[in-house]
Amino acid sequence: MNLLGIDTSFDDTAAAVVADGRTILSNVVSSRLELHEHFGGIVPEVAFREHVLRIQTVVEEALARANTPLDKLDAVAVTYGPGLLGSLMVGVSFARALAVGRGLPTVLVNHLEGHLYSPFLSDGAEPRFPHCAMIVSGGHTSLYRVEAWGKYTMLGNSRDDAAGEAFDKVAKFLGLGYPGGPIVDQYAQRAKAGLPDLPRPMLHSDDYDFSFSGLKTAVIARLVKAEKDRETIPAEDVCRGVLEAVVEVLTSKAMAAALDHGLSQLTLSGGVAANATLRDALAREAEKQGIEFLAAPRTLATDNAAMIAGVGWHLLSARGPSPLDQDVMARLPLGPRESHP
Ligand code: KG4
Ligand code: ZN
Repeated sequence: MNLLGIDTSFDDTAAAVVADGRTILSNVVSSRLELHEHFGGIVPEVAFREHVLRIQTVVEEALARANTPLDKLDAVAVTYGPGLLGSLMVGVSFARALAVGRGLPTVLVNHLEGHLYSPFLSDGAEPRFPHCAMIVSGGHTSLYRVEAWGKYTMLGNSRDDAAGEAFDKVAKFLGLGYPGGPIVDQYAQRAKAGLPDLPRPMLHSDDYDFSFSGLKTAVIARLVKAEKDRETIPAEDVCRGVLEAVVEVLTSKAMAAALDHGLSQLTLSGGVAANATLRDALAREAEKQGIEFLAAPRTLATDNAAMIAGVGWHLLSARGPSPLDQDVMARLPLGPRESHP
């Protein structure tokens, strides 16, 4: 069964064709990075207009690369939230028009559900239910227990900024560019020393929640102090300090969530999953505890539509098509939150 997946939740316009939730026939992601760099971040109105301009070309390219003409398509999966309302509406409207025109079923997918599925798009990776999953992106830092595709319990969440957002803000403050995650990553690799006195927010909070909004402030305070003390801290060392602080908190909370809930498989997805330091730290800790660790392939860690088509196939098989009047949602939680004792 060939599913066309569409994701326009944020800044990237993405379309992909995936067979039976498993085999990626094509995966096209179009981003106008130079526009977002120009504005120093995402401007919703700019993102929305770009989706309108590009959606048809991106879908046509995905179908062409997959060698799948419209009459070989069996269903359309599309992200309906969370994200920027205007952006989401472009994808959902396009998907519906196409599906109705061709008499195909549509399945509406939560963007986060797509991220949770992305580690299983690599060869031989099989989910064990229930398993523990961490999503770390520019918009989310969350831990889930995944009971089945379509059934999730939130174990923890960021109370303010996401981890990726912390990288983006620090990079912006240091004048290094956008998006900050990959830049902080590159700078950190060239560092001679770190910045070990940066805080590890909520490391010992005895729950699975995160808080990263204070990191940028801590960096600023540290740099002001350094200036007073006539000490120079290279940007590389600042980046390594921030990366180490974030990785330590993420690793510790993810391991605690998996161990406390007796879950023997742990996955990592979302844009920050592209980070080698984080992947390595989690792989090391998981191995020590006999937990199987799976990270999304780097190319599928950041936003894409293959993950939407992939999980969409399971949702369609389990629940059937989504109703046509279901609306887009800027905020869309993924399952109930487990209360912490
Ligand atoms: O999942 P994603 O593409 O979009 C959202 O749904 O947010 O994640 C984007 C985030 C950005 O904050 C970006 O700075 C971060 O992922 N990121 C990274 C790396 N590559 C992307 N963070 C750390 N290291 C990386 N290599
Ligand atoms: Zn995302």
